[in-house]
Amino acid sequence: MKKIRIGLIGCGARSKAHRESFEQMDYVEVVAVADPIEERRLEAAAQFGCQRIYKDHTEMYNNESGKTLDAVIISVEPTAHTDIETRAIEMGIPFLVEKPINLDMEKAREISRMIEEKGLITAVGLQDRYLDLINIIKDELPKHKAGGLVYGSWVCGVPGVWWWQNKATNGGQLVEQNIHLVDGLRYLYGEPISVYATCSRGIVKAGIDAPAEYDNDDHSTVVYQFENNVTATLVSGCYSHAPKIRRGYYIILNDMILDYRLRNNLIITNANGEETDIPRGVNQTFLLDEAFLKAVMTGDKSLIRSDYADALKTHEMAFAANKSMESGQVIYFNK
Ligand SMILES: NC(=O)c1ccc[n+]([C@@H]2O[C@H](COP(=O)([O-])OP(=O)(O)OC[C@H]3O[C@@H](n4cnc5c(N)ncnc54)[C@H](O)[C@@H]3O)[C@@H](O)[C@H]2O)c1
Repeated sequence: MKKIRIGLIGCGARSKAHRESFEQMDYVEVVAVADPIEERRLEAAAQFGCQRIYKDHTEMYNNESGKTLDAVIISVEPTAHTDIETRAIEMGIPFLVEKPINLDMEKAREISRMIEEKGLITAVGLQDRYLDLINIIKDELPKHKAGGLVYGSWVCGVPGVWWWQNKATNGGQLVEQNIHLVDGLRYLYGEPISVYATCSRGIVKAGIDAPAEYDNDDHSTVVYQFENNVTATLVSGCYSHAPKIRRGYYIILNDMILDYRLRNNLIITNANGEETDIPRGVNQTFLLDEAFLKAVMTGDKSLIRSDYADALKTHEMAFAANKSMESGQVIYFNK
């Protein structure tokens, strides 16, 4: 079988998870890697015995083409989405890009338009769409009376990477991290009607609890309304090192509770009070990578659960919440 030849743009932490997938796929050949940090690009190259090693995406694109690369995997920090996607589109190279896809929504909309014009295959790293537990919830919801309350949360400490220390460079925790639960809401309930959000800061002290340049919210609370009387409250927090913080969704249906513990297990409590505890049974990043690469190999885009155009809608949802945090106003989404 002819192998699919891929290039890695960005060889940091998230790239490692993708690389674990590629190591297990005998139909994948990592032929080129790029990262401004020498140690990282050399480590990634050594992992696959790759000889084409570049200092950034520009050098990679200047030396490669759509004839030498079948796809690229873009795992760069949120501020680094300069012309990485537009050049891939111009060269006709399909790509998988990590969330957040961009911090500038106008630019993301333009990229989405360019992708559509070209008919290019893309995927976004919204890994939980490939998670068995989320898909069990998706199958379960239509069996019950529509509507209900959803409580979602992702609370932790401040991640160490430089770009997390400032809302201008990570987009805020909702955009950077809790985007997975935002996306899950869209996946489960469809497009939202409105959002209202608040945020707070002052617990994490710059230079004491975090680096001196720290300038980000400690926590936010976002209320999304959906059709069918669904209201979801999503809390995000990066101020706590308390152990065993509950993360995930707690969904209260008229006759059932779905207690989803983030990427770990799902406890279903039925109308008789009987509990079923289902552990996670898949590696969702592996399934995301596999779906993208098989789509590129076969041309079957239906394998991809969130492409760039779809993920753009999730990002619009998160950035609308950021706007509401700033203005104190409810924001209504255009239908
Ligand atoms: N889908 C998920 O579940 C998930 C999980 C973790 C991180 N992420 C996302 O993945 C992205 C990367 O996160 P990370 O933790 O790997 O960050 P990181 O800082 O560890 O790595 C990013 C790497 O990109 C490199 N880079 C920057 N500009 C580049 C360029 N022009 N060409 C080539 N390489 C370049 C940097 O030097 C760095 O090594 C972030 O947007 C993050 O939100 C997604």
